[in-house]
Amino acid sequence: MGEHCERELERLGAPAHRIRREIFGSAVDVARLPGWPAALPADREVEIEVVGHGTVAARTGEPLLVSLERAGLVVPSICRTGACAECRVRVEAGPVHVLAGRGLREADQAMGYVHSCTSYPLGDLRIRLGR
Ligand code: FES
Repeated sequence: MGEHCERELERLGAPAHRIRREIFGSAVDVARLPGWPAALPADREVEIEVVGHGTVAARTGEPLLVSLERAGLVVPSICRTGACAECRVRVEAGPVHVLAGRGLREADQAMGYVHSCTSYPLGDLRIRLGR
């Protein structure tokens, strides 16, 4: 139903940045969602250097937040859908895929912050926790 509504809103001319989805939890298959690089598998292993905390193993199709938690790092989170900004991390180097329409503020974008619950590593990264 969500996909149908999104298609119809686009057909009616609603700007993409005004369309919001409610998704509870992580996307099941992020590689099938709009904007994912076509040639990149969702199961590629990458490394995330977390400044001051060492290196974390991750997969391209897994939200940064989940990879960080699996490594025992505590990242504050509330909604886990990209809405509250509690899980922000700063990306210092490397490519990240941010799910479309997840409310990332322009100021955060300009400073390199992403919502780790709705952001995926496309390659090796260096990030910084906290604000
Ligand atoms: S936990 Fe709310 S934006 Fe990530």
